[in-house]
Amino acid sequence: MCGITGYIGYRDAYPIIINGLQRLEYRGYDSAGIVLYDGNDIVLSKTKGKVSDLLEKAAKEISPKGNLGIGHTRWATHGVPNDVNSHPHTSQSGNLVIVHNGIIENYDTLKKELINRGYSFKSDTDTEVLINLIEEVQKENDVKLGKAVQIALNQVIGAYAIAVFDKNKPDEIVVARLGSPIAIGIGKDKKEFFVASDASPFIEYTKEAIYLEDEEMAIIRVGKKVKIRKIHDDSLVDASVQKLQMNLEQIEKGGYEHFMLKEIYEQPRAITDTYRGRLLREDGIIKMMGVEDNMKKFLNADRIIIVACGTSWHAGLVAEYIFEDLARIPVEVEYASEFRYRNPVITENDIIIAISQSGETADTLAAIKLAKSRGAFVFGVCNVVGSSIARETHAGAYTHAGPEIGVASTKAFTTQITVLSLIALRLARAKGTVSSSDYRYYLQELELIPEKVKMALTSDDHIKKISEIYKDATNFLYLGRGYNFPVALEGALKLKEISYIHAEGYPAAEMKHGPIALIDENMPIVVIATSKGHYEKVVSNIQEIKSRSGQIIAVVTEGDVQVKEIADHVIEIPETNEGFTPLLTTIPLQLLSYHIAVMRNCNVDQPRNLAKSVTVE
Ligand code: F6R
Repeated sequence: MCGITGYIGYRDAYPIIINGLQRLEYRGYDSAGIVLYDGNDIVLSKTKGKVSDLLEKAAKEISPKGNLGIGHTRWATHGVPNDVNSHPHTSQSGNLVIVHNGIIENYDTLKKELINRGYSFKSDTDTEVLINLIEEVQKENDVKLGKAVQIALNQVIGAYAIAVFDKNKPDEIVVARLGSPIAIGIGKDKKEFFVASDASPFIEYTKEAIYLEDEEMAIIRVGKKVKIRKIHDDSLVDASVQKLQMNLEQIEKGGYEHFMLKEIYEQPRAITDTYRGRLLREDGIIKMMGVEDNMKKFLNADRIIIVACGTSWHAGLVAEYIFEDLARIPVEVEYASEFRYRNPVITENDIIIAISQSGETADTLAAIKLAKSRGAFVFGVCNVVGSSIARETHAGAYTHAGPEIGVASTKAFTTQITVLSLIALRLARAKGTVSSSDYRYYLQELELIPEKVKMALTSDDHIKKISEIYKDATNFLYLGRGYNFPVALEGALKLKEISYIHAEGYPAAEMKHGPIALIDENMPIVVIATSKGHYEKVVSNIQEIKSRSGQIIAVVTEGDVQVKEIADHVIEIPETNEGFTPLLTTIPLQLLSYHIAVMRNCNVDQPRNLAKSVTVE
């Protein structure tokens, strides 16, 4: 939700923190700030706006000196985005500084108590309450900063990742986590340490990191081993140092104008990485340890319940078709945010599949915890290695898409569908619900998908021309049937979130039950009309639209004749079996939304009001 960075060591902290904030801007970008200890005092600059605005402001306000500092890029929860509400926040005395990602739910009660004790507040944030609570605890108990943070956090209800330091003790940073991620990068010989919401801000400095677990806090001092404790019971924790796999190239734009475009074009590689070592076509097998180790559970399951949000939920909807079609297992797909609050019927014979790119989505995490508490087996499909959801689930499979930085999900979606297809096929084989010849055909087709995605990407220029025609539309409809109904939803979501054009996805046949009333000559309608599945039915739907003067942009299988005659524009994709078409039909819809957003001068990678990982409810 928000991004945190910090540095303590021998280098200038300023450029490390600013670069780090730029890499974390995908997490939130409505305000940004930095505080440094310059050898004598703290210097602080913060502003509403992006990190680029902070750079301008900081250049006028502070001297970028000092080897200790923390920074923040914000996605507002408490208090509108403005300079005062931006982080870092200082305590009343001005001694303590904090950056925070998360929400303190009982901040109002704590604030009233602090006001009664003489504190006053400059901002509307819950974070300023927390730093003053830490200060009050420190004063009252005469304890060191680490202990004060621990006592204060034991009074807090909510979620947090925080980094705090005290200008009177500028040799340490205290960090803590509950529900929001925080990583500590360990420099060579412990001469320097980095703090960040993910490892991207420090990847060029170190490949060694500790990821704090929930309810853990750490005291970071140069030259010392990082000391980690449980916040609630004070027990010491053995830090597990992880080797980072990420490299700098993966988190840079690599010549593309936007991360989103780079990530769209990365899909052939990403899908290959997803099935590498799992789809062994020559041996005729699919091998996924998370599934093999739990095969009995999968085979005995009464049903699968998929929980997810947003694009990941759309991937779940595609999976519903695949699992039911191939493996004949009943599937329900739930918005995690609804599931967690509606007292769902869950039994020990249910399998929950939680899908999440970030692995940090608060609602999905809460849905997992609920399902676990009712005895269900929970399987995770995540992209971010070591994320909260990956750790909270009983077993799982990573998508291996690589870092996704554009806020609009693209390669995460297609790689999630790839993983879910592999699982469905593996279970289908084990259950005997597909013949061995069909099974071999599916393996072969799946292996060909990356090449076919490459072919689908060659329509980019053609899609750009179509985008030019419709960039000023105020509404769009997206229609699809069967496996491509969820793709219609996903296409509409992509357009909405990055171009701010209202768009709705519908099952094509539902159109005549209401949305058809919207159709006139100003309404562009994207219809997925691939040759397999319900082709003739979709052709009839297109005719219904045409006779009401709607503008049709059709995604068709190459060689199509019928739709070409009636649609205003067609975009071709290569042929594949019906179940894998979402992996191809999605590509033109991603490109369409991308080009329209660019033409409307929208900030494609950082659309307004959004953040990459939604770690609050
Ligand atoms: C849309 C998008 C969001 C996410 C949703 C779930 O492009 O990115 O709808 O899909 O917030 O996020 P994860 O997959 O990280 O749980």
